[in-house]
Formats: sequence, structure tokens, C-alpha cells
Amino acid sequence: MSRPRVLSGIQPTGAGKHLGNYLGAVRYWAAMQDESECFYFIADLHALTVSPDPAELRERTRRLIAELLAMGVDPERSSLFAQSHLPEHTELAWVLSCLTGFGEASRMTQFKDKGGGNVGLFNYPILQAADILLYQANAVPVGEDQRQHLELTRDLAQRFNNRYGETFTVPDPYVQKSADRIKDLQDPTAKMSTSRGGPGTLWVIEDDQATTKKIKSAVTDTGRDVVYGVAEKPGISNLLTILSVATGKAVPELEGAYAGKGYGDFKTDVAEAVVELFAPVRRRFDELVADPAYLDQVLAEGATRAREVAVATMATVRERVGLLAPA
Ligand code: TYM
Repeated sequence: MSRPRVLSGIQPTGAGKHLGNYLGAVRYWAAMQDESECFYFIADLHALTVSPDPAELRERTRRLIAELLAMGVDPERSSLFAQSHLPEHTELAWVLSCLTGFGEASRMTQFKDKGGGNVGLFNYPILQAADILLYQANAVPVGEDQRQHLELTRDLAQRFNNRYGETFTVPDPYVQKSADRIKDLQDPTAKMSTSRGGPGTLWVIEDDQATTKKIKSAVTDTGRDVVYGVAEKPGISNLLTILSVATGKAVPELEGAYAGKGYGDFKTDVAEAVVELFAPVRRRFDELVADPAYLDQVLAEGATRAREVAVATMATVRERVGLLAPA
């Protein structure tokens, strides 16, 4: 039996990727490389929806490759590429947009949350569906916030298959349990996000001192017991989640360990655990980012492997929908 195919993407927005991106998605990317055939890409076309500065976008794209490699994506085992290097993504997005209802696209919460904006933002989930279906992916490791986009992807795959005959694999979401939804350290009722930035966002690549300071100044809750409970103790619950995934210890075990100890010791330990978790990533990043020729080579090889699959899928799609093949 062939190995399941895994695909996921990440945007080159903001100063870099944050703890939520790592704990909610990228660490699973790294973990899935042995059992699966993996395609991972930088969603640079999606990033255009927020109108980045051109020079900055290029710089961030290169830095993000270095970050992903440092976080454990292995170019020997996975294809790592830039979305914009394969025009098949936008081509399939067009075909799928012709199968998407206007109302259906309008209901996507990410668009609604951003208060509207450009048409690219409106089409964002359709391009995401194209990214996934192009590679006939079986599983898509993403954070909880992407669940709705995966539902749309599944609907579009089924709709296409019903209308034109079996063409696309209907992907399973590989969404991590909601405990991995990492919250902002200053406002633990909101998700940690690139656009927020600030002292509540913990970057994967930053000084150890900055990490320690942000965790020690994280907003905590009334009382002094280290116990989990999102409604009453959102700040402590978020830190418990972070400590749990950083150390591999279950939350109840950690609650037991901190019984009677108060918030100070607890936060010191969370800071140490995160610094330790990222120490090898930060070291490796510094080496990688100093070698742009190597990063470009990784992308070129990734695109070559991705192209084999993407071109074949698009040829089938063109034929199925009735586009005349060029003579
Ligand atoms: P991006 O770059 O915004 O996010 C990358 C991944 O990080 C997850 N994530 C989180 N997980 C837990 N807690 C958080 N606070 C948190 N914030 C972000 C996201 O769920 C995501 O998995 N739309 C995608 C990019 C994309 C894509 C695709 C993904 C484009 N095409 C095709 C999969 C398949 C995104 O949000 O990227």
C-alpha cells in the first residue's frame, strides 16, 4: 500500500512564525514525515491578501523556509516549495471558484472576522481548497482555526466528483484537539496571532530573554492555584497547555506538581521549558538563514517534485470540465 499523502501550507506574514503555529501545526508536519509522503508549502499568494511590501515579502519567504527547516521539516523526506512557483494552484482555484456559491464563500468566518476587504481575501478559502486538492492529499495537518476551510475543501471535492466523475481525494482534516489552540499571552481569550504581534505573541525565532520576559509577564487570573479551566482561568490554562506540549506531560500531572506552589514558580518553569524547546531550533535557524543559496535550492527541488503531481491533476481537471486541449 502506498503511504498516505499529507499536505499543508503556512503564510510568510509577520516577523516570523509564533508558538501557536508551531504547537498547532508545524510540529505535526515534522512528525508525519516518516509514515507519509509530505508536501509542505509557503502560501505566498495567500499572503498577498494583506498587501505586504514586496521586498519584505521576498525576505520573509526565505526566512520562513529557514524557520521550517529549523523546526524539523526535512527536505530529503518532504517536498518544501513556494505556492507561487506552481501556477496550477491559481488555475485550479479558478475552476473551483466556478463551483462555489457566493453565499457559501460569504459564510467563511475568517473573511467576516477581518471585516471584508479585497476580493483576494474573499477567495482565500477557494485557493486553499485548490492547494489541497491539487495534491490529492489524504490528510491536512492544521490548527483548529482552519477547520471551516477544510470543510469547504471537502464539499468542493465532493461536488466536483459528483458533477464530473471521481477526480479528487476527499481529504481528512488532521486538526489537533482544541487544547492546542494557543492563546495570546496578554489576552488569553484571543488566539495567538501574527497580526496581533506585541508582548502577547511568542515568536519561534527571538532572543531567549524576550521569550522569558513575555512568559513571566503573561496575564494570569485571580486566585493562586495552578489549575486548568478555560472559563475561570484562561491565562493559567493557556500556560498549562503550553507547558504540557513543551514537556510532553499531561495537564492533570502538571496540576498535581504545582499544587500549593503559586504562579511565580510555575511561570518560571514554563519559560524554561519553552526556551529549551526552541534552543535547537534557534541555533539551526541562524545557520540556515546565512545560506540563501541552499534555501533557494531546497525550494527548487521541492517545486520539481510538487510539479509532477500538480501538472497531472490539472491535466485531468481540464479534460473533465471540457476545456479543449491545445493542438
Ligand atoms: P497560517 O500561516 O496563518 O498558520 C499556519 C498554521 O498555524 C495554525 N495556527 C495556530 N494553531 C494553534 N494556535 C494558534 N494560535 C494558531 N494560529 C495559527 C494554523 O491553523 C495553521 O495550520 N490558511 C493557512 C495557510 C494555508 C493552508 C493551505 C494550510 C494556505 N493553503 C492549504 C493547509 C492547506 C493558514 O492559516 O496559515
